[in-house]
Amino acid sequence: MESEERIAEVITLRRILRAQARVVTAVQELSLVRSLPAIQEVVRRAARDIAGADGATFILRDGNKCHYADEDAISPLWKGQRFPMETCISGWVMLNAKPATIPDIYADPRIPADAYRPTFVKSLTMVPIRLHQPIGAIGCYWARPYTATPEEVVLLQALAHTTSVAMENVQVFTELEQRVAQRTTQLEALNREMEAFSYSVSHDLRAPLRAISGFAELLEGEIGPAVSAKGRRYLEAMQQGATQMGSLIADLLKMAQAARQELRRTEVDLAEIAREVAARLREDQPERAVELIIPERLPVSGDRTLLLVVLDNLLSNAWKYTGKTAQPRIELGWENGPPGESNFFVRDNGVGFELAKADKLFTPFTRLHTAYEFPGTGVGLSTVQRIIHRHGGRIWATAEVGRGATFHFTCDGAEPAG
Ligand SMILES: Nc1ncnc2c1ncn2[C@@H]1O[C@H](COP(=O)(O)OP(=O)(O)O)[C@@H](O)[C@H]1O
Ligand SMILES: [Mg+2]
Repeated sequence: MESEERIAEVITLRRILRAQARVVTAVQELSLVRSLPAIQEVVRRAARDIAGADGATFILRDGNKCHYADEDAISPLWKGQRFPMETCISGWVMLNAKPATIPDIYADPRIPADAYRPTFVKSLTMVPIRLHQPIGAIGCYWARPYTATPEEVVLLQALAHTTSVAMENVQVFTELEQRVAQRTTQLEALNREMEAFSYSVSHDLRAPLRAISGFAELLEGEIGPAVSAKGRRYLEAMQQGATQMGSLIADLLKMAQAARQELRRTEVDLAEIAREVAARLREDQPERAVELIIPERLPVSGDRTLLLVVLDNLLSNAWKYTGKTAQPRIELGWENGPPGESNFFVRDNGVGFELAKADKLFTPFTRLHTAYEFPGTGVGLSTVQRIIHRHGGRIWATAEVGRGATFHFTCDGAEPAG
């Protein structure tokens, strides 16, 4: 007799341990979910397993109603239905903020027997989700007379507690997502406004600038021969300032243009574009002997006008920053690398720069060389980066002081075909 009791005790203990392990799994699952339906899915299965029940329901308080939101059972219960709080047991559990265990549903006055007659249910136990102002309930049902043990109720209550935390997390998460989406829309609008603004400002700055340099020229003609050496330096400085500002405005307009212009993708040959740019560079400075290596073909899908701006900037930079190099060499090509690392590149053997500063170059107006060493505006590479980003690609630089620089870029992961 005693040993029979022992056996029963061991069986019970095992069941409790299994149920505990099941709660732990459910807690882990609940820590990963990101939506209410996902929570319901985890909870209805876990509740049924923990109590070894024939069915489980997930009930949400919906104002003055209990909404039977989800269920997992041997045959249909009340999924999708709503009952007044006062007339159903989940309402009682929520209003009283405590569990209910009912061994015989037809003997308990809290149960509306009519709602249960079409179902298999004979016994049930129900726990509230959140003890302070419950927001729902979890119910377990049996097709036979059964009294849920205190341990089962405790474990179900633990599940319900984790459920309420998960529901709060989902709410916070959803709110954050909404806020991020809202901010993104705001930022996009702001960006468009900024672009329109910088475009019109650059545009409007051109007229007064023309006046300054035009009148400086007229002034020089007017007082020309009589002007002192100092006066001439002033006039020259004015002209230089005006020229520099003219380039800045032109570059800013190009940057605004690169961001605004519609992207028209076609099959484009980067090699052909590079040859066009190279011809212009040679024409501008025929005295320079630069070795230019450009492959036969380098096809890619992209916007020709915008990719011309990219190569124009990269090759002009390479041309400019090899200006003091003994045997200047510039190469455009394609580098095969591990997946995701293959890229186009423009390489030179010019002055280079400190590698640690490589990512600063793409910020407008950032220059690593003085205007005295190499003239420029510091806007070109930011324009290039925008264009590459619009093509779904990325751009980065490697360099070494005195040994040259390489600009690598991808174009939507495209590999040149043929
Ligand atoms: N090929 C290159 N070699 C060395 N430095 C470069 C090269 N290309 C760009 N840089 C550095 O990056 C800076 C930003 O380039 P960019 O935006 O084209 O402006 P800019 O050419 O007008 O100075 C340059 O001022 C220069 O310091
Ligand atoms: Mg440049």
